[in-house]
Amino acid sequence: MDFFERQWTSYRAIVEHDLMEHRAVAEATATAIQAWFDARPTTAPPPHLLDLGCGDLALLAPLLQRLPLASYTGLDLTPAVLPLAQQALGNVPFPSHWVEGDLLAWATQGTAAEGHAVVAQPVDILHSAFAIHHLADADKATFLQAARQRMAPGGLFVWIDVFRQAGENLEAYVARYTRRITALWPQLTTEQQEHVISHLSRCDIPADRQAIAAASEAAGWQWHWGWQGAHQAEALAVLTPA
Ligand SMILES: C[S@@+](CC[C@H](N)C(=O)[O-])C[C@H]1O[C@@H](n2cnc3c(N)ncnc32)[C@H](O)[C@@H]1O
Repeated sequence: MDFFERQWTSYRAIVEHDLMEHRAVAEATATAIQAWFDARPTTAPPPHLLDLGCGDLALLAPLLQRLPLASYTGLDLTPAVLPLAQQALGNVPFPSHWVEGDLLAWATQGTAAEGHAVVAQPVDILHSAFAIHHLADADKATFLQAARQRMAPGGLFVWIDVFRQAGENLEAYVARYTRRITALWPQLTTEQQEHVISHLSRCDIPADRQAIAAASEAAGWQWHWGWQGAHQAEALAVLTPA
């Protein structure tokens, strides 16, 4: 198994055993998107949805399949996930696009990948699950400012991620999450637990939940929490242009 497969197999096991509450996340995502549809004029045209860090779409595909979209675009830094996502989505009655690219580059430059005009157009629904926490805090603020400029009027941004508690430093967060994995995730093998802890310690920079809400408001968004998980980490924020 290569590095990607090992990492992805560990992530798949987390999703299958619902260790990060992906099922509740999927329900909360459906609720947030449905509320947005319900508040739109019935004459509004079908929306374009962009998914940043789409992964393999294992959980989002059933919701996407029943949404009346103008298009779906899955963007991910890891090209190996894109065919998996395409397969999970299957045949849908709207065009789908698959883009290898960086979410920060999409926000700041609009063209994450040459030749993909679709990623440069204004976005009606922006979705991102468990990807933005890989950005440094300064880059998260840049992302929020730049992404705000990419939204169509009346758009919706559903941001699912891990967040630190207000005032909690990164070291304390990593120690807390590591204890959670070793104590509460027996469904993973020891090797899988080690992969996750190693990834978490090296790559994860969850935002302070209070600071990021303030940063998003400074960037021209209205922020409210749509769902908060049981472990003071996973959460879903609903952002709309202020
Ligand atoms: C933990 S997975 C989440 C996948 C999926 N959204 C889900 O909720 O199951 C994170 C995904 O984000 C992608 N990713 C991480 N950093 C990224 C970046 N800067 N730009 C685009 N994708 C990124 C990874 O390649 C990976 O597919």
